[in-house]
Amino acid sequence: MKILAIDTSCDESCAAIFDVENWKLISDVVHSHVKSMEKYGGVVPEIASREHLKGLPLAVHEALERGHLMPSDIDWFCVTHKPGLIGALLVGVSYAKALAFSLKKPFSACDHIEAHLFSPLLCTIEGKNPPSFPWIALVVSGGHTELFLVKDVLNYEWLGGTLDDAAGEAFDKIGKLLDLPYPAGPQIDRWVREHGTDEDRKKFYFPRAKTDKYHFSFSGLKTAVLHELTKMGSKPNDAVRLSVAASAQEAILDSLIEKVDKAAKEFEVKQIVVTGGVACNSRFRQKLPSAYFPAVRHCTDNAAMVGLLAGLYARQGRLNPMPWNTTASAR
Ligand code: KG4
Ligand code: ZN
Repeated sequence: MKILAIDTSCDESCAAIFDVENWKLISDVVHSHVKSMEKYGGVVPEIASREHLKGLPLAVHEALERGHLMPSDIDWFCVTHKPGLIGALLVGVSYAKALAFSLKKPFSACDHIEAHLFSPLLCTIEGKNPPSFPWIALVVSGGHTELFLVKDVLNYEWLGGTLDDAAGEAFDKIGKLLDLPYPAGPQIDRWVREHGTDEDRKKFYFPRAKTDKYHFSFSGLKTAVLHELTKMGSKPNDAVRLSVAASAQEAILDSLIEKVDKAAKEFEVKQIVVTGGVACNSRFRQKLPSAYFPAVRHCTDNAAMVGLLAGLYARQGRLNPMPWNTTASAR
């Protein structure tokens, strides 16, 4: 069975083809809208929707072409229907439904966070061993910061999430205050890795929010950075900006690691897994050396993880066709 997977939850038009019988990824295409968003310093939802209208058909076409396949070779369509930018999701859902309808094939909808959650299993398509269950899994992206206890494949429990900003959003907004281009997460990571010192990481003490249970909060940290920069009066020089970036990155990562460690202790789980865009962060990987981080290309948004998720459901006999009135949902 060949599954064509689509993800348009944010600002990347993604299409992938997954072969369930052979447990093989046939193609995996990502068309990023980052160039169109740069001048706005963030994702403009309306522009993302329009970019998907242009980018998604190209991504699907390319995914088919790379696999030397025709649309009629696809047996099942699977699309992310939540959570994300509603206009962006609607483009993906409508497109997948139209394709499935015209080809008289079933389609199903998947949850973007669940796809990130099981993206560590993408290594199995390369014949590698995945991290063994149970996991304490952190999904950290531009839109989400969620902690899970994962008992087994598709068997998990939500432990907590962010009360305000997501960790990636905190990176991006703090980067914007520092005049870094969007998306600032990777820029802060690279800048601090190449030029930052231990001194820079400790120069400013930014708050690590004290939140209940397994919840997170980053809005106070963002405000603390803004206050610090405002206090400086004139525009800080590069050395000071670098210290602010390094100290803020440290505060974000410490807040995440504190909850991950707490959950690992309480549930007596050894294996920690981190996925989503922020899992690309090199300092994060350095600070949590025993955790499993998927390959960088599997951490940021992609449709391979959507195809894999559908494959996991199919293997358990739980991949069900969705009705034609299935729609998208921001949450
Ligand atoms: O998972 P993703 O591609 O899209 C969402 O579902 O949101 O995550 C994108 C987020 C952005 O906020 C971006 O700044 C952040 O992940 N990100 C990083 C790094 N690479 C991407 N944050 C910190 N360090 C990185 N290396
Ligand atoms: Zn994502």
